[in-house]
Amino acid sequence: MTSASYGMVLRQGRLLQPGGTIETVDIAIEAGKIAVIAPRIEASGALELALNDQLISPPFVESHIHLDSALTAGEPRWNQSGTLFEGIEIWRERKQNLSLADVKMRAIETLKQQAMQGVLYVRSHADVSEKNLVALQALLEVREQVKDWMTLQVVAFPQDGIYGSTQNRALMEEAIQLGVDVIGGIPHYELTREDGVQSVHQIFEWAQQYDRLIDIHCDEIDDDHSRFLEVVAACAIRSEMGSRVTASHTTAFGSYNNAYANKLLGFLRRAQINFVANPLINITLQGRTDTYPKRRGLTRVKELWQQGLNVSLGHDCVQDCWYSLGTGNMLDVVFMLVHVAQMTGINEINACYDMVTWNGAKTLNLSDHYGIAVGKPANLIVLNATDRYEAIRCRATIQYVISQGNLIASTNVPVMQWRHELK
Ligand code: FE2
Repeated sequence: MTSASYGMVLRQGRLLQPGGTIETVDIAIEAGKIAVIAPRIEASGALELALNDQLISPPFVESHIHLDSALTAGEPRWNQSGTLFEGIEIWRERKQNLSLADVKMRAIETLKQQAMQGVLYVRSHADVSEKNLVALQALLEVREQVKDWMTLQVVAFPQDGIYGSTQNRALMEEAIQLGVDVIGGIPHYELTREDGVQSVHQIFEWAQQYDRLIDIHCDEIDDDHSRFLEVVAACAIRSEMGSRVTASHTTAFGSYNNAYANKLLGFLRRAQINFVANPLINITLQGRTDTYPKRRGLTRVKELWQQGLNVSLGHDCVQDCWYSLGTGNMLDVVFMLVHVAQMTGINEINACYDMVTWNGAKTLNLSDHYGIAVGKPANLIVLNATDRYEAIRCRATIQYVISQGNLIASTNVPVMQWRHELK
């Protein structure tokens, strides 16, 4: 008996590559990296997984979540109006009682739920408008604690506005100096429009000064006069930072008149920034002040995609004061997007899958780290599906999750049995 040549060998899976190409291959993994990809690999692995033509995909990327508020639904009370603003009020009460242990426990529990469902890259916002930066410090510790199986980016997010109170600006700068990956903002929730514009300029200044990425909660409101996206685009054009900049939500874009929206699309093409839509939350929180017709409250995902702009997706919230549901499953997010954005053509459905994989990697600036190729870190998932369309249609089970060459989670595929006798 000879000893195994590789740490792990995956047998006969359908490997999904950018653009949707699929080929049936074996994959050998050694020392945390992909060693060989070939139609057949003769050598054995210490661990062998027979995939039986299941789909091998790069991991899901969660482009936008709030881990500091996750798993707090109902604390101290439920959001009865369902609005973003009642959620902010409830969170303001809940965050008075944050502790390092509380935030870390909920964040790690949520990350485990996500990882078990194929998410291995997460960008989380951390509220830095609470007095002791506890949420931020907790997530920075979690980033270190989970790094063997999860890549976590932390955003300094001023939930109550950079200029919403006298101490918030200083708290933001302190948060940046503590080592966040990304600088956030919320211009539509600053006290005045002028404050909102100034906040965007301040964020770009900090990003250049401290060499950080940018991800701004931008125009998360149905108000068609909320137009901070154009400010973000202008700053990105002038600073040439487009690929390092993300505008999250931009739900007001769904309410702009077409003349303005079309002009703006031209500026966005020049700016080449990234967009994150959060379909589960956007369809739930927005449109609350409408009677009928009732708006969907989603940014123009299809139009941005048609312009070749990078759109990725987030769950945004899991069981908190803004959204009491959710399990962290990115296929739920994609499934909702297909419906709300009416992206039901086959090319559109496939593009929606790319939004939680390759597009998310682009938003997070993961560059060459991401993807399945020889020499890259062995990060991949195995779905009980034949292709992207089936993965979304069936919200496929993620059977195996492999992170940095280790099998970190597996899920048995449910088996349905017909019990009734046929006549
Ligand atoms: Fe958010």
